[in-house]
Amino acid sequence: MKKLIVIISFILLTKVCYGQNLDQKIEDLLSQMSLTEKIGQMNQYNGFWNFTGPQPISGDSKKKYDQLRKGLVGSMLNVRGTENVKEVQRIAVEESRLGIPLLFGFDVIHGYKTQSPIPLAESASWDIDAIKRSARLAAKEASAAGLNWTFAPMVDISRDSRWGRVMEGAGEDPFLASMIASARVRGFQGSDLSDPNTILACAKHFAGYGYVEAGRDYNTTEISINTLHNVVLPPFKAAANSGVGTFMNSFNDLNGIPSTADKFLQRDILKELWKFKGFVVSDWGSIREMIDHGFASNRSEAGRLAILGGSDMDMESSIYIEKLEELVNSGKISIDYVDDSVRRILRAKFLLGLFDDPYRYIDSDREEKIIGSKEILEGALDIAKKSIVLLKNENNLLPLKKKGQKIALIGPLAADKNSPLGNWSIAADKDSAISVLEALSLGVMRRHKGNDLIYKQGVRLINKVPDGFHEEVSINENDRTGIEEAVIAAKEAEIVIMVLGEYGYQSGEGRSRANLDFPGLQQELLERVREVNKNIILVVMSGRPLILNWADENIPAIVQAWHLGTQSGYAISEVLYGDYNPSGKLTMSFPRSVGQMPLYYARKSTGRPGADGEDQGSVFWSHYQDEKNTPLYPFGYGLSYTKFRYSKITLTDSKMSPDESINAEITITNTGKVKGKEVVQMYIHDRYASATRPIRELKGFQIVELEPRESKTVAFKIDRSLLEFYSGNNRWEAESGDFDIYIGTNSDTKIKAGFVLND
Ligand code: NOJ
Repeated sequence: MKKLIVIISFILLTKVCYGQNLDQKIEDLLSQMSLTEKIGQMNQYNGFWNFTGPQPISGDSKKKYDQLRKGLVGSMLNVRGTENVKEVQRIAVEESRLGIPLLFGFDVIHGYKTQSPIPLAESASWDIDAIKRSARLAAKEASAAGLNWTFAPMVDISRDSRWGRVMEGAGEDPFLASMIASARVRGFQGSDLSDPNTILACAKHFAGYGYVEAGRDYNTTEISINTLHNVVLPPFKAAANSGVGTFMNSFNDLNGIPSTADKFLQRDILKELWKFKGFVVSDWGSIREMIDHGFASNRSEAGRLAILGGSDMDMESSIYIEKLEELVNSGKISIDYVDDSVRRILRAKFLLGLFDDPYRYIDSDREEKIIGSKEILEGALDIAKKSIVLLKNENNLLPLKKKGQKIALIGPLAADKNSPLGNWSIAADKDSAISVLEALSLGVMRRHKGNDLIYKQGVRLINKVPDGFHEEVSINENDRTGIEEAVIAAKEAEIVIMVLGEYGYQSGEGRSRANLDFPGLQQELLERVREVNKNIILVVMSGRPLILNWADENIPAIVQAWHLGTQSGYAISEVLYGDYNPSGKLTMSFPRSVGQMPLYYARKSTGRPGADGEDQGSVFWSHYQDEKNTPLYPFGYGLSYTKFRYSKITLTDSKMSPDESINAEITITNTGKVKGKEVVQMYIHDRYASATRPIRELKGFQIVELEPRESKTVAFKIDRSLLEFYSGNNRWEAESGDFDIYIGTNSDTKIKAGFVLND
């Protein structure tokens, strides 16, 4: 009865108070709000259980409930599941004076309960439609759990694999990452935010977080204006252009200013230049952290700087709720700032349809039906297969024969059902991934009966104490007891599959590494096994590029399998057996040495270039004495079970004026025996410019699928938009002159042509 009355009064309130169009509705509501209630909308609290960061305020649940009742909370994070969401929403809507519904945010980074591959892995599919679909399915599942906002996509470009959060991004390249940013925003938000299976997306971390010095998380960043515009900002701009509802700022300071207070970024660029209509949420406690940065001397000053800098919502610092009112009343902050932030937040709530029905995301039947459903699981498997990158396949060791083989499966991650879920799998059930052991055993039982499989862990995992919201294992560093029996098993087998790499939470937030080799005793295990059996297929699970030099020299087949999510084992098994022909391509260069960091293909030439392996005649060129400059595997690299031959490039013209376009065409032929997909990549180099340009930059790609002996010609249209950059004149422009164009199978392609852009 009480609920009915509340809903009726809610409807009445809606009728009485709100005008017809969105802006009018927002103004109507704003006019009824007290200053305290307005500031309440700018306050976001963590729920009453999981934490995804250090807790800056005491975990006082009672205070949070009281504030919810007073309308002093605009959003909660980490409250999930329809029952929990309903209860908290009920308090806000039915017990507070104005009944403004809450936003419920969660880190749906690569799925909610069902995990799809980590975003870095998905990016390796280069399949924009599949990536969009993956985000769509994640939104379906998350919204069925009552959520209406995800803190994704992370669109930070990073070129340093020491930084653990590379697992959350789309790799090193701004062109590809921008396309992926748009796809993921569109996937999460769908075409209509008021549809209850869509959720608000959040482009993060604005900005420069991927450039933390020395790859150490939360560290400081220094980024030139040239790099900022040409490399760091484009994926954010793409997200904004695709209608992303929210932005999150970053923990780092950028050129001396913590992003949380960076007016240049958040106001001048985002809100003014890009005309972003959504709101900016601070990262966890980042308003308070400005004190530790040495930028704000106290909490009140931190709040003042944050709002002036354009941060609209305070995640878990409690500074806005404590200090803003006083700042406004004392005239230190104009009420206009508060009103602007609140308008933006209310707008998101209206767009989600929460004022029409605050419980629209709460449907326990849908929760029951959608979470873990066939559709979601099939989607996770599809993108998992597409994310796998074949790094090496000497003498066609892969695919496996379907019968008559004695296989030894070895490694700490081979039977691990947790690591493949990867970091940010907070809502997944522990041990819910299909392991490689499970999938291969099932295959042996059902389809490959003639094969024989024996499994040995080799190096044990250690169970660690849960750290507050997830349990971790780690890879043993001193217990060699399993190695001997693994060696014996390998000796008796025809083929050895070794599953090595990083455990699930070894990459991600706060998981920077100074060494990028196999953790623990895994390298030793690999070398010991290699002494008795050379037919090794190495499956690498990791959240970032690892250093695989030894493996590349000594192991005939290497498969990069990342952390592929819930369906991991099935995806890997399909690839190993050749039921799926791998087509993934790396989106981060794989280093030979940590000393090469940061490492990326789109580097500048320098005044002393020189090519690796050639005698330069002197020591005075840009190089290392003890390592090559080149990566072990370049950006865009990945093999297939078939081979592709490329023709020369044909240009429809060798010159163009700024308002014309030309086509670059190339023919690709499948010269192998099986059908396969190839990501055909086009790179452009602006030879001379008002600011130095990278030696080549990705400017187009197409996925072609070819039957054996089939050929296809692909055409890339080149127009001015592809040639524009943030120039030495501090503006976006295409400068006339000579351009090189490269097309091929990875960023190292030598297939080249040239054209001129006339004035
Ligand atoms: C801190 C992380 O940097 C951010 O990406 C995440 O969304 C928040 N914590 C909330 O969990």
